[in-house]
Amino acid sequence: MLHRVIYASEAVGSTGASTLSIAQILGVSGRNNRRDHLTSCLMFHRGHILQGIEGARVDVDRLMRRLQDDPRHTGLRILADTPIQARRIDEPMILCADPDALLERVGLPCLSLATANEAEVLLELRKAA
Ligand SMILES: Cc1cc2nc3c(=O)[nH]c(=O)nc-3n(C[C@H](O)[C@H](O)[C@H](O)COP(=O)(O)O)c2cc1C
Repeated sequence: MLHRVIYASEAVGSTGASTLSIAQILGVSGRNNRRDHLTSCLMFHRGHILQGIEGARVDVDRLMRRLQDDPRHTGLRILADTPIQARRIDEPMILCADPDALLERVGLPCLSLATANEAEVLLELRKAA
C-alpha cells in the first residue's frame, strides 16, 4: 500500500534561498529516495517549504522522522497523509522550478496558506507543467 504525505514548513537561514543549500538537499534526497523507493516533489517559496512524498508507509515515516530532526527547517506541519492507488510523483526528487507561476494558478498569495486541497492541486499542476 502506497501513501502520500504532504507537509509544509518554514526555512531556517539560507535553506532554499541559496543554490548551495538546495543542491545539498537535492543530492542527498535523490540518493536516499531512490534507495527507499520514495518519490518526492519539493517547493521553496519566500522562506516557505512544501514537499509531497510518496512511498510505502515505513519508508515515508522514516523520512518524516529525519525531516522532523533537520534544523534547516522548522514548524513542520502535515497537510495531508493518505493512502493512494497510484503515484502522482514519478521521480525520486523533483524541485519545483517556478513556484510563483504555480501559486498564481491556484490563486494562493503564499505557500504557507496552502490547505491540504490546494497542496494536492499544486502537486497535480506541477506534474502537468
Ligand atoms: C526541505 C528539506 C527536504 C528534504 N527532503 C529530503 C528527501 O526527500 N529525502 C531525504 O532523504 N532527505 C531529505 N532531506 C534531508 C533530510 O532531512 C536528512 O538530512 C537526510 O535524509 C539525511 O540523510 P543521510 O542519513 O543519508 O545523511 C530534506 C531536508 C530538507 C531541509
